[in-house]
Amino acid sequence: MAWSTADIPDQSRRVAVVTGGNGGLGLEVARELARKGGHVVIAARDPAKAESARASIRAEVPDASLELQPLDLASLASVREAAASILAGQQRVDILVNNAGVMAIPERRTEDGFEMQLAVNHLGHFALTAQLLPALLQSGDARVVSVTSTGRHAGRPIDPDNPHLSGRYEPWRAYGQAKLASLHFALELDRRFRAARASARSMVVHPGFANTDLQARSARESSGRSQRFFHAAVRRFGMTAGQGALPLLRAATDPGAVGGALYTPRWVNWGPPVRRPMVGRSRNRDAMRTLWEVSERETGVSFDIDPPR
Ligand SMILES: NC(=O)c1ccc[n+]([C@@H]2O[C@H](COP(=O)([O-])OP(=O)(O)OC[C@H]3O[C@@H](n4cnc5c(N)ncnc54)[C@H](OP(=O)(O)O)[C@@H]3O)[C@@H](O)[C@H]2O)c1
Repeated sequence: MAWSTADIPDQSRRVAVVTGGNGGLGLEVARELARKGGHVVIAARDPAKAESARASIRAEVPDASLELQPLDLASLASVREAAASILAGQQRVDILVNNAGVMAIPERRTEDGFEMQLAVNHLGHFALTAQLLPALLQSGDARVVSVTSTGRHAGRPIDPDNPHLSGRYEPWRAYGQAKLASLHFALELDRRFRAARASARSMVVHPGFANTDLQARSARESSGRSQRFFHAAVRRFGMTAGQGALPLLRAATDPGAVGGALYTPRWVNWGPPVRRPMVGRSRNRDAMRTLWEVSERETGVSFDIDPPR
């Protein structure tokens, strides 16, 4: 039998933080966790969209336990404030879904001088996870879910001398680098949890090809033909946001979900969520170590957890 939302166990007394929980896949993840009784912190940039996300969930789940937390992943100051506010309000975080992302947009820098796609997809989540670590370690069964993409296959491991692709920017190259970073971050984090004998797990997910605002935004913001092609294709052939959210929900809630594993639709971009083997450079240890060092250097944030030997 294919895994579905009916398989999500009771989430009452579990606290989840979902980045980008105000739209697309993140909203569907927040909705299903709330439906199963979890307390869900919707960590999002656009407050009006976050309010409508809350209203949309409450329309289906009137007693949903929801909280809105402003978070702009393109600002280290905002990440710091959001983490401090979550730590002040919650003793534990049981589920952290590092979902927010942008894809193949024109070159842009954040207020910290970071390349935007690397900042939102990876560096902001790296800093957020490190700062929420005390609350994650308070949970007996914490899960950190990171979201990659098949776009990672177009990416190269991070170059420590040029992580922001100065003079080498190309929208898909930057997305590929950022999504390979999301994958390597998830795997390295799980290795560090194991080395520290922590009960927490870190998983990585590719949602599949799902019709959300991701492709629409990249087509809106760029005049690229490939962006317009993917937007047209996803409207015609994409799964719904609810279907795309399933691998995230499986990694976040399935009692049998495995730390360090990849969850994707069965046929990569379509189908029910399954665990898939990872091949080749997915497990490039040197690339993971370099990414970790560059992420610490760029964000100025480090993880208070032992590195693996
Ligand atoms: N949909 C797919 O086919 C697909 C395939 C592979 C991977 N993914 C990945 O899945 C994840 C979710 O994407 P989606 O498909 O749900 O796209 P989406 O509908 O565009 O949602 C993206 C979310 O990220 C948020 N976000 C963007 N910039 C942000 C920032 N600076 N700070 C905080 N939040 C920010 C957006 O919030 P605002 O609207 O408020 O900016 C939105 O909630 C992404 O990581 C994406 O790369 C999606």
